[in-house]
Amino acid sequence: MTTALITGGTAGIGKAFAAEFAGSGHRLVLVARDSARLDAVAEELRGRGAAHVETLPADLSTTEGCAKVAARLRGEGESEGAPPVDILVNNAGFGLGHGFLESSVEDEETLIDVHIRATMRLTHAALPGMIERRRGSVINVASVAAFVPRGTYSAAKAWIVSFSESVAAEVRGSGVRCMALCPGFTHTEFHQRAEIETSDIPRWMWLNADDVVKAALRDLNRGLPVSIPGAQYKVLTAASRYAPRAITTRVSRSRSKRW
Ligand SMILES: NC(=O)c1ccc[n+]([C@@H]2O[C@H](COP(=O)([O-])OP(=O)(O)OC[C@H]3O[C@@H](n4cnc5c(N)ncnc54)[C@H](OP(=O)(O)O)[C@@H]3O)[C@@H](O)[C@H]2O)c1
Repeated sequence: MTTALITGGTAGIGKAFAAEFAGSGHRLVLVARDSARLDAVAEELRGRGAAHVETLPADLSTTEGCAKVAARLRGEGESEGAPPVDILVNNAGFGLGHGFLESSVEDEETLIDVHIRATMRLTHAALPGMIERRRGSVINVASVAAFVPRGTYSAAKAWIVSFSESVAAEVRGSGVRCMALCPGFTHTEFHQRAEIETSDIPRWMWLNADDVVKAALRDLNRGLPVSIPGAQYKVLTAASRYAPRAITTRVSRSRSKRW
């Protein structure tokens, strides 16, 4: 039986990963800050037949929170003897409902800590054991925002894509995979939490979290380094890669308050 550790596993895309893995018989380790909600989600998944659900409350914007999860991934300290983690999903994240100039430097830094620093540290903690066992997968949740210049959020997601592609190349042939997942607008708590106005986003642009996860796992099995769920986003991201940077910058500036 394999074990999947999912950061941000209590809501949205992370919870959809947890449900999908539970349904296919994986053991789960769920990470998030809100421990009451972690317990409630673990109970819900057990009620739906999950084999084993472990909860690990941690704030990934902090050094201590990252160290706690890294110790579980390395099987150190209290985690000694626990089942090794075969699948790591670095999914925890949030958006800022304002542009860079209206934002505090603390908020910008927290965004970098959760999206970049935690992803790097947890991937670094997970890989050696996976390579030794000659099996494992790391899925890093980025965004289609990685392909357009739109504040620190987009820049952090672009880092995740580049980092994941680089790790994927480095682990090739080892039995381990690494993939960046780049969803577009997905129905979750993300926009409400960041107070991002979504009423003018057309319906065709919305994805649902279960479909995002199914597409991600299909692409992981095919060995892709980057997964872009949804035909509409495959077309849009291809266009943004080939369009002159001046055009993508102008288009993104018109929506810059969304991230
Ligand atoms: N929804 C979209 O349209 C969309 C599109 C592209 C990419 N994404 C990316 O998808 C990922 C998941 O987002 P979502 O839409 O599913 O958001 P969500 O519904 O708001 O869920 C976020 C999850 O992350 C956890 N989390 C947030 N900050 C954390 C921290 N500091 N430490 C530990 N856990 C933390 C939350 O739990 P607690 O609050 O209890 O910690 C929650 O479980 C993010 O990386 C996001 O950038 C989302």
